[in-house]
Amino acid sequence: MLVSMIELLHEAQRDRFGVVAFNVIGLEHAEAIVAGATRERAPVILQISENAIKYHLGELEPVGLACAELARRAPGRVALHLDHATSFALCERAHAAGFTSVMFDASAMAFDDNIRETKRLAAWAHGAGIAIEGELGVVGGKDGIHSSVDGMTDPARAADYIAATGLDALAVAVGSEHGMRARTARLDLPRIDRIRANVAVPLVLHGASGVADALLVEAIAHGISKVNIATQLNQAYTRAVRASLASDPDVVDPRRYGAEGRDAMIAVVRDRCRLAGASGRDC
Ligand code: G3H
Ligand code: 13P
Ligand code: ZN
Repeated sequence: MLVSMIELLHEAQRDRFGVVAFNVIGLEHAEAIVAGATRERAPVILQISENAIKYHLGELEPVGLACAELARRAPGRVALHLDHATSFALCERAHAAGFTSVMFDASAMAFDDNIRETKRLAAWAHGAGIAIEGELGVVGGKDGIHSSVDGMTDPARAADYIAATGLDALAVAVGSEHGMRARTARLDLPRIDRIRANVAVPLVLHGASGVADALLVEAIAHGISKVNIATQLNQAYTRAVRASLASDPDVVDPRRYGAEGRDAMIAVVRDRCRLAGASGRDC
């Protein structure tokens, strides 16, 4: 069933587990995420980034409505979230298509501009009846920007930021970086503790693909409630498709190698939901 992301995050915050948000590229991704979560009886978040929508020729609705329908048909709880949006018009389109939350990414803006624009978007989101995630600090790995200590979320500013903007969930920069292929990120766990102590809303870890399993479990124990994973899913999909194509150079039917890619993603989804402690929470 299609549910609100914020309801899942409040449950995760209360019970100290992580809801995993997997990034959708094509329909095989969305099918694998819902199938894997269903087998685990885990609540899950399907998220589509602004860049993924650009890949779909700038059209949110074909991929977004398909994801909303997959969520509605799922036996367990599935939220549908717009990830890393910089465009207000895109947020409006997401809401119209049934998305239950958006992330407004103003992390590239100066602090005052970030507050002003995020506050405007939060007022709109709440009027529309959906939840909103924002980011304070800079999680690198996109557009040639790398994570740095200077870009980490300042725990002292976090409370003011939430109070000024009215956000429902906060993405924190604590040492992870988008797009890492090796799990070598060094998270600043004491910083997560300090942010957690200062703000009441659920905390989000972007770039979780680069975090080693034991460290991810610790991050959740220290107060992370939403775990964003894209690269691990894409690695599994691409590896399986590449192996399938290599094993049968005459293949032309995308369903042959697409199914192998999808199966590989299902395995990742199941494994990540188990690691985050989300398995077994749904019927
Ligand atoms: O942060 C989200 C995922 O890493 C996907 O990123 O679709 O913006 O490249 P992208
Ligand atoms: P990774 O691609 O590093 O897993 O990051 C995912 C993410 O943060 C999506 O918002
Ligand atoms: Zn991200």
